[in-house]
Amino acid sequence: MRERRASGRRRERAVDYDSVLMAVSELVRREIDLDILLAKVIDAVTAAMAADRGTIFLIDRQRGELFSKAGYYPEVREIRLEIGQGIAGHVARSGETVILGRDSDDPRLHRAIDRATGYATQSVLCVPVRDSGGEVLGVIQLLNKQGADFDERDAGLLRALASQVAMVIETTSLYRQLRGPTAAPLAYRYNGIVGQSPAMLRIYEVVAKAAATDATVLVTGETGTGKGAIARAIHYNSPRRERPFVAVDCASLPATLIENELFGHERGAFTGADQRSVGKFEAADGGTVFLDEIGELPLPLQGKLLRILQERAFERVGGRRTLEVDVRIVAATNRDLEEMVARRLFREDLYYRLRVVALHLPALRERGPVDLEMLAAHFLDRFARRHGRPFRPLTPAALARLRAHTWPGNIRELENCIESAVVLADGPAIDAGDLPMTGAPAPAPLAETGASSLAALTWDEMERLYIGEVLRAHGGNRSRAAKAMGIGRTTLIRKIRELAVAADEPPGA
Ligand SMILES: Nc1ncnc2c1ncn2[C@@H]1O[C@H](COP(=O)(O)OP(=O)(O)OP(=O)(O)O)[C@@H](O)[C@H]1O
Ligand SMILES: [Mg+2]
Repeated sequence: MRERRASGRRRERAVDYDSVLMAVSELVRREIDLDILLAKVIDAVTAAMAADRGTIFLIDRQRGELFSKAGYYPEVREIRLEIGQGIAGHVARSGETVILGRDSDDPRLHRAIDRATGYATQSVLCVPVRDSGGEVLGVIQLLNKQGADFDERDAGLLRALASQVAMVIETTSLYRQLRGPTAAPLAYRYNGIVGQSPAMLRIYEVVAKAAATDATVLVTGETGTGKGAIARAIHYNSPRRERPFVAVDCASLPATLIENELFGHERGAFTGADQRSVGKFEAADGGTVFLDEIGELPLPLQGKLLRILQERAFERVGGRRTLEVDVRIVAATNRDLEEMVARRLFREDLYYRLRVVALHLPALRERGPVDLEMLAAHFLDRFARRHGRPFRPLTPAALARLRAHTWPGNIRELENCIESAVVLADGPAIDAGDLPMTGAPAPAPLAETGASSLAALTWDEMERLYIGEVLRAHGGNRSRAAKAMGIGRTTLIRKIRELAVAADEPPGA
């Protein structure tokens, strides 16, 4: 009786499938080193399914072998198997799921591993890891479930997890290495960061070097080029990864509130400050502070930030005590700080302190067709999963349309464009007409400017024209217009201000 109840409880834990899937997708969302990610995934799965051991094996096509990638056997560093050998090798070759119970005398059980490790395999569940094209990249194998044997439900869960693992691998350069004979260096493996263009490979190299240190990093690039994503990659690949990553958007708050947000305040610092509050720098102690839109930081605060960079010291608002923090700073902006320095809008000394490591992210149009297609495929897959739709490829016409577009909103614009197409398209593939980006520039508003062609406009005139048109198309709603342009709402508001766009009239006004 007791035993049955005990194993019943274990089974209950073992079948809490949703929480395992959620835990894994949470891991997948954080841009961390692939090896660490896979190790965490296999640990979570092994524990949740009450298995004794779990291993992810990947296929090394050059050598025709499987190698253990995560969940190493403690006894040996890496296990290599020939494809076809043992249960894992069989699953790698056939793509079939294998479930073996305690009493099985299946000849495929590879006893040589047991002999090498001194471990007695009793029950096995092994499923293939397939990429979105269906090709087997490797297998996930669980051994010796406590209580009962593995069953079909366990197999279903493990297959669902395997497809998440495949999705992660597909976004890294490890994927290329697994697929093709030309090996890319393994250093380029930032989960969630897609792209193999030479410009991006250079970025990964700098990210890898910078992540290993505490150096301050300044990330620049147009809107939507991935500055936030790279900032997170730096943190999650740094020794600080277990400590907080705290992001502050310098554009979103007025100066007085930003100071409070960054440094916190003492009780009684201002009317209504009836409690002491901890600022972002304190909250991030031991971790990383990401100062987004640093170009918007008001001048008086630039001096205080400089002090943090130089001395790691500050005072809370309304406080006298000097506090010290151990933080790494990553800043980002889409503004030209050098030009702001020249116009005395940004402190020169701060600028140089920030750009110890300077990373300039290329615009999407500079990254070439290969990156564009990889990103499009990545988003097609991601949004198909998110919205519960089947994966559908792009038609050649849709691809041509993507290539012809100049992507002023960069990756975010592409992301929104593909998401919308995935949700709204009806056919078996995504066609050009399903892509919602604005096509060739509309001739009508151009006529209003008196110019005969786009080429006759200055950059500012063109931006003004573009923004005005998109705003009109969205009835003056800035949030929706910003989304359609693929830029942030604050960026749009700033541009409206700077360009003095006549923006507020609803259509017809
Ligand atoms: N290399 C990449 N691979 C896949 N997705 C990416 C990549 N870079 C960015 N993204 C995605 O594109 C979107 C825009 O990226 P992000 O927000 O980091 O850009 P940004 O440069 O900070 O934009 P902004 O200047 O508007 O703040 C995000 O959803 C991000 O996850
Ligand atoms: Mg950003």
